[in-house]
Order: sequence, then structure tokens, then C-alpha cells
Amino acid sequence: AALVGRRMRRRRKWGRVLGVLREVEEGCETSVGRLKQVVDAMAVEMHAGLASEGGSKLRMLLTFVDNLPSGSEKGTYYALHVGGTYFRMLRVKLGGQRSSILAHDVERQLIPQHLMTSTTEALFDFVASSLKEFVEREESSSSFPLDRRRELGFTFSYPVKQTSVSSGILIKWTKGFAIKDMVNDTVGTLALGHYHDEDTVAAVIIGTGTNACYVERMDAIIKCQGILTSSGVMVVNMEWGNFWSSHLPRTSYDIDLDAESPNPNEQGFEKMISGMYLGDIVRRVLLRMSQESDILGPISPTLLKPFILSTRLVANMHEDDSLDLAEVAEILRDNLEIPDVPLKVRKLVVNVCDVVTRRAARLAAAAIVGILKKIGRDGSGGITSGRSRSDIKMRRTAVAIEGSLYTNYSMFREYLNEAIVEILGEDVAEHVILNVMEDGSGIGASLLAASHASIDRDAVQ
Ligand code: GLC
Repeated sequence: AALVGRRMRRRRKWGRVLGVLREVEEGCETSVGRLKQVVDAMAVEMHAGLASEGGSKLRMLLTFVDNLPSGSEKGTYYALHVGGTYFRMLRVKLGGQRSSILAHDVERQLIPQHLMTSTTEALFDFVASSLKEFVEREESSSSFPLDRRRELGFTFSYPVKQTSVSSGILIKWTKGFAIKDMVNDTVGTLALGHYHDEDTVAAVIIGTGTNACYVERMDAIIKCQGILTSSGVMVVNMEWGNFWSSHLPRTSYDIDLDAESPNPNEQGFEKMISGMYLGDIVRRVLLRMSQESDILGPISPTLLKPFILSTRLVANMHEDDSLDLAEVAEILRDNLEIPDVPLKVRKLVVNVCDVVTRRAARLAAAAIVGILKKIGRDGSGGITSGRSRSDIKMRRTAVAIEGSLYTNYSMFREYLNEAIVEILGEDVAEHVILNVMEDGSGIGASLLAASHASIDRDAVQ
């Protein structure tokens, strides 16, 4: 009788845990039908954000970048990229032909923790003196005169309302910065994407944060009537991290994470997708499972700590291909202080990672298709030249993509690619190319410095 009782208790325990899993799965549901609703909502919000300032949660910021590198850029250029965790200084030597980056030096510096909550002056003094040293190191090893003027591109992984190509106002610090006080990193990625592939129309970053920018016709940017660009286009920084739609599959875990975050009701889309948050969604689900039963042993106090589980660890657990999921066990033990759990429980943890990551990747895919829809590159409306789908004439369309989730997390990448095909259909999707940009935001900024330097020179001549 005691044995039967124990078995029943164990079954009930698993029943409760599987109930939690089922609920998460249902809450994270991303059928193609739902993804198409997200695509439509994205395109509608893009229109609204372009129509008027504050017309949408999508800020659709003007960047004043109206031409992208063509390949003819030549010479040595610098770039500075202030990101979420690091800042990077780059020196790029361009050969004057498409894709001819002859040399490229990068130096990466961790942003000291105390400067993340200090003053703007302290942060930028630190950045400026590091940059000075970086430039001087070049001088000592080359014959450039010290007083030679250098072109520097600047990318900034934060939302800035720009007033020209070289000035702007920071809207707010995201990603854990709390400093009161320029081009966006996505614009750098787009520039590098275009340098390599002239069919590039948009750029996406999925890293610590997530965002996209794309090339828009000036006449579609209703809110900036009166501004003219010679090319008739301008790059728009969407700030899609702040996108919101009732069609997004939202769970109680997302709601709690948002409420406990430093910026509730903001960056809602980013909180479901980017590296800063995925780990914490997984942690919250595991905590709930642990509260429902003792399958993870007694509730680990570590599991109660926000942001203790990084997305990198989620990726490592998700991609553990050992038969006994040894790495899952190790991460649970070393990082969450959850002692050795049986294989069945490890599998459950992998399942949670899968559900959360799959949703993120598929939503990012829908958002990308949303941009394509807005600019008429999704194979619908006006692009079909024949009667059947196989007659579709779709222009080759490239999207530059960077960020650790897409580049380093293969399950994320596969889910995203797969969803694009599901949404667009194979005939259309084969014309859509995602080009991975390594260090795109940084190198791209130096390319922008180069292409804008040549415009300045042309204007002077
Ligand atoms: C955040 C920032 C945005 C940036 C993105 C990717 O969403 O608000 O400006 O482009 O992260 O780094």
C-alpha cells in the first residue's frame, strides 16, 4: 500500500509539472496563422509610426542616412561602437571595390560597471581617452602624420532621435544603463550589409537587445514632410523592441518579468525575444515548476534571483547533445544550485528552453516579414506577374542580420529561418536572403564615415 501511495504521489507531482509545461506551450503558441497576424500588425504599426510622431509604439526614428556604402569607398577609417556591455574601436582599410576590406583592427573594452550608472561625462571621457590611445598606437606603427584628420563613424546601441546625420538626442538608455543625457547599431549593420550586397534593404540585430532598420521612401515618411534627400530614400530606425500587438502570445511569465523590470510597459517585444531576457523567462518557468513540486529538489534560493540564468546558458542546455544531458545537469548544479536531477527532469528543462527560444525566433521572423510586407517585398500585392504562385516574380531581397542569438545559437537560427519559409511560402522565401554580418554595426559605421566623407569632399569640390 505504501508503494502504491508513493507511486500515486509521484504521478500527481508529474501531472502538475506537465500541466505547467502545457500551459507555457499553449501560452507561447506561434502557429503560422498567428505569425501572419503579427506580420500584419507590424506593417500597420510601421505606417502609423511614419505618419506622426508618437503615432505608434514603433518610434520609426529618422536617421538622416540617405545613402549607403557602394563599394567605391577607399582609405583608412575609424569607428566607435558603444554597445550594451562593451565598446569597440575599429580601424578599417578599404580598397575601393565592393567587399574589399583590406585590413580591420578591433579593440574591445568592457564598459566598467560603475560607469553604467554614472554621468554621461564620465562614460564618454573614458571612451574618448581609450580612443585616443587606440589612434596613437596606429600612428606609432605607420607614417601618417599625427595631425591628419580622421573620419570616425559612431554607432550607438540605443534609441536616438536624430536631428542630422551627425547629431541627435538620446531618448532613453535601455539594457541596464541609467545615465541621463549616436548612429544606431542597426544602421551600421545595414551599411555593412549594403557594402557586401547591394540588394540589402533592411538590417536586424538580435543580441542583448533587438531592433531593425530599413530603407524607406521619403514620400512614405509622412511625419517629415519638407525634408528632401537627393536619393529620395532614408534609413528608418524602427526601434522594434518597443513594438506591441494584442496578437503577440504573452504568458504570465512575460507579464511578471515586465512588471519587475526597470522599464515596465516598455520594450515589450524585446522582452520576448532578446538575449537580455530569454534566460530569465526560462528561470521563471523553472521556478514555477519547482514551486509546484519537488522535482527540482527543495526550491533553490538561487532560482529566485532575477537574471541569474543567462541566455547563453539556456543555449548551452538547449544544444546539449550528450545522451545523458550532462551539460544540463552541470549548469543546473553550478549556476542554479539545483543538485543532480534525473534524466527525465533534464529533458523537461530542455523542453522549457525550446519553447521559450522557439517563440522568440518565430516572432523575430514574423517581424522581419512585416518589414518586407511594408516595402512590398513579401511577394504579395502587385508583385505577382503570372497567374499561379510558381509565376511569382520576386526581386532578390537581402536582409543583414547580426547579434549573438542568430549567429551563435543554432536552434534559434534554425527556428527563425524555418518560420520565414512557413510565413512566405517557399517560392517567395527563396528570394529572401539573410546575410550574417560579423561586427556589422562597428565596421558599418566606419563605412558610413567613409561614404559620408566622400560626399563632404564632393560637396566642397
Ligand atoms: C535596444 C535599443 C536599440 C538597439 C537594440 C539592439 O533595443 O533600444 O536602439 O538597436 O537594442 O542593440
